[in-house]
Amino acid sequence: MRNMPAPVLTIDGPSGSGKGTISRHVANRLGWHYLDSGALYRAVGLAAAWSQVDLSDADDVAACAERTEIHFETGEGSAEPRVIVNGKDATHQLRMETAGAAASAIAAMPPVRAALVQKQHDFRRVPGLVADGRDMGTVIFPDAVFKVFLTASAEERAQRRYKQLKDKGVSVTLAGLLGEILARDARDANREVAPLRPAEDAVRIDTTGLGIDAVVERVLALMPSR
Ligand code: DC
Repeated sequence: MRNMPAPVLTIDGPSGSGKGTISRHVANRLGWHYLDSGALYRAVGLAAAWSQVDLSDADDVAACAERTEIHFETGEGSAEPRVIVNGKDATHQLRMETAGAAASAIAAMPPVRAALVQKQHDFRRVPGLVADGRDMGTVIFPDAVFKVFLTASAEERAQRRYKQLKDKGVSVTLAGLLGEILARDARDANREVAPLRPAEDAVRIDTTGLGIDAVVERVLALMPSR
């Protein structure tokens, strides 16, 4: 079985569904690698802004995606990794809603998505990979051993984002966040290329009202034993 590719567990879902936190905890429990694919799109949006690339020009943004160097510095346990973009620590900037909105806009461009495919595949290494995003189970890792699609009501997702940003000292309003989340959902779900949708073979978990540990346990319990 030496040539079998490393197993992948995909966790897709809309923004604020808890994908990132759940994926990091599950990866930590399994001792697998972790890919935050949203951070790649966010990093490209940021790098494009830094080098004054026209964000409406798909080919220019794709060229920027090709040359942008993105590294994750994994922390202890399930801590959020630091993200280094072209040598600069961009962890804080990448979490801002402006970075999310820029990422969502450039993520609708087919050449940009194509430019990031290999970078995502490169994360697949033994003993395994937990990959979170929008199209992990449908496009990037269709042969994943287990696919999860996380959902939660828009109100609850806005509440979670609100708390996350408040804890980081970012000033935001709940109503503003809810509006941004609904706009981002609509854009991510309605774009032509790799829209946000569950893979046919994905297990859906509604996380509304569930804590992190409960969701992590449910994912691990449902995952086929290997
Ligand atoms: O998961 P996130 O909020 O960090 O993602 C930011 C944006 O990037 C999201 O609105 C859509 C885009 N994205 C994508 O199109 N495909 C992915 N696999 C991950 C993110």
